[in-house]
Amino acid sequence: MNLLTDNPELYEHQFPDSGHVAARFVHDLVTRFDGGRDLLDVGCGTGRDAGWLSRNGYRVSGVDSSESMLAHVRKHHPEVDVTLADMRGFDLGRTFDVITCLDSAMLYCHTNADLDAFLSRCRAHLRPRGLFVAEMRNGAFFLGNTELLDGVRTRSVTWRGTEYTSHTELWIDHAAQLLRRRRTWEWGAEPLVQRSAWRLLFPQELRHLLDLAGFEVLALFDSPGPRTDQPWSANAPLSTALSGDRLHVVARLR
Ligand SMILES: C[S@@+](CC[C@H](N)C(=O)[O-])C[C@H]1O[C@@H](n2cnc3c(N)ncnc32)[C@H](O)[C@@H]1O
Repeated sequence: MNLLTDNPELYEHQFPDSGHVAARFVHDLVTRFDGGRDLLDVGCGTGRDAGWLSRNGYRVSGVDSSESMLAHVRKHHPEVDVTLADMRGFDLGRTFDVITCLDSAMLYCHTNADLDAFLSRCRAHLRPRGLFVAEMRNGAFFLGNTELLDGVRTRSVTWRGTEYTSHTELWIDHAAQLLRRRRTWEWGAEPLVQRSAWRLLFPQELRHLLDLAGFEVLALFDSPGPRTDQPWSANAPLSTALSGDRLHVVARLR
């Protein structure tokens, strides 16, 4: 069980994006790098980005490994064609102009073999010169920054009349190159302890993996973005300092 992926409404309540900044970010990058309008969103979650894109000129498909997320997409965004599948092994039998993978979904590929499998699935599902657009945590941010690792962060949200309080601890598993999280949820019932982990990718490691998978990196930047302090805006200059906590990449299939 995962409280947030099992409850897509709570997920959107916890991480609101009422301005559809993430979907607009995708649209601006696809426009800037001259991509097509046939798009696959891998790790599509609640489908809010896929839904916005499909209402704005894209034909959108989605892949996710959570049945409750996909049930939510089918109910709220029926125009999005979704498939229950693992990002390391999906086979939709067709190709797309653009593949997106947003909000660190790619970092659920924990091992090098997982990452290779995912990128090879992306290659197989893109037309020649198709675009890959991904947005994730930046492993390089943790070189010299401990602010996300210090202490326990407590947050409360009220959803459908119930207050949910989460206590979150993050730490780094250096050997596995993973950011690990333990989150305890309290809402009157027995506390629910949930563990997650994200692969920590360094910018040049990501570039190398994409290169080996047959992609040319067109842009690799930390800011602006949909989840950065500096908000995303169309035609904004892209910062290549790569020290921020988010990493954004646009790559083209060679
Ligand atoms: C942080 S959410 C991001 C959702 C969405 N992309 C967004 O930006 O709102 C990560 C999503 O990845 C999905 N996911 C996790 N591991 C996966 C896997 N191995 N294959 C496919 N989807 C996966 C989860 O079910 C979840 O919906």
